Amino acid sequence: MKVYVTRPLPEPSVSELLAGFEVEIGVRGEGLSRVAPHVDALLPTPADAVTRALLESAPRLRIVANCAVGTDNIDKDACRERGIVVTNTPGVLTEATADLTWALILALTRRLREGEALVRSGTWDGWKPMELLGFGLQGKTLGIYGAGRIGQAVARRAAAFGMGVVTFTSRDATERFDELLETSDILSVHAPLTPATRLRFGRAELSRMKRGALFVNTARGGLMDEAALVDALEHGPLGGAALDVYEHEPRVDARLLSRSDVVLLPHIGSATRETRLQMARLACEEIRRVLSGEAPVNRVV
Ligand code: GLV
Repeated sequence: MKVYVTRPLPEPSVSELLAGFEVEIGVRGEGLSRVAPHVDALLPTPADAVTRALLESAPRLRIVANCAVGTDNIDKDACRERGIVVTNTPGVLTEATADLTWALILALTRRLREGEALVRSGTWDGWKPMELLGFGLQGKTLGIYGAGRIGQAVARRAAAFGMGVVTFTSRDATERFDELLETSDILSVHAPLTPATRLRFGRAELSRMKRGALFVNTARGGLMDEAALVDALEHGPLGGAALDVYEHEPRVDARLLSRSDVVLLPHIGSATRETRLQMARLACEEIRRVLSGEAPVNRVV
């Protein structure tokens, strides 16, 4: 049975867990359409689109084991119709992603990019009372959109910084969303990308945020209208943004690149050695299970 892994993963996940299967490892997922007619299992990443057209050309496919917790890169309806199992890797990336969210919050509020650049420029000439003044966290309100595993882990860390927390989940009343927009000093996004959450933060929503509020996204870029976000930075009310994900990834709105009030990272929320190894293991285990006739553990479809 043939397994296609779209990109190299931390070993020994593939060599140990997929031993006995015919495994092909791609470089940047570019081989997907070539291998689709021949594969029994696919192991893609969030950067690989598993479309209906691709699935239609894959008559042997039994499982798509995404190496991610989000599965918005996969046409799940098309998988369901064809009886293809979809799995994800929840739990193992919660803490790493929450840590990175705080790394972004601190980098933005304490102006780490500018401070680092100043020291590296060789022009820094000593302590100054008014230099690089940031934004204190104590007593401020952190808004969390999507209080699942990752949102809750971010909220737990907020207590250590002396911040109050307001959360919103899809089960809350819309007034709660209004409260989130209107009371957050920092609003951090932690919901999956679904038809219901796509572009949830558009022009109208961003314009209702507090003057000087900060917007943080380590979930999926598709939750925000990136052009509207840039406008809210340029013309208010936002005072800054910290992003690990982008609406049209890997493309980034060019206007963001030159701004000093943003911190931009290349989708590395789960990128610790420990976490990425665990994600790879979970995905490989699901493939081994399904191709051996066992039930998958983290089944999405
Ligand atoms: C990464 O973006 C993930 O969804 O795990």
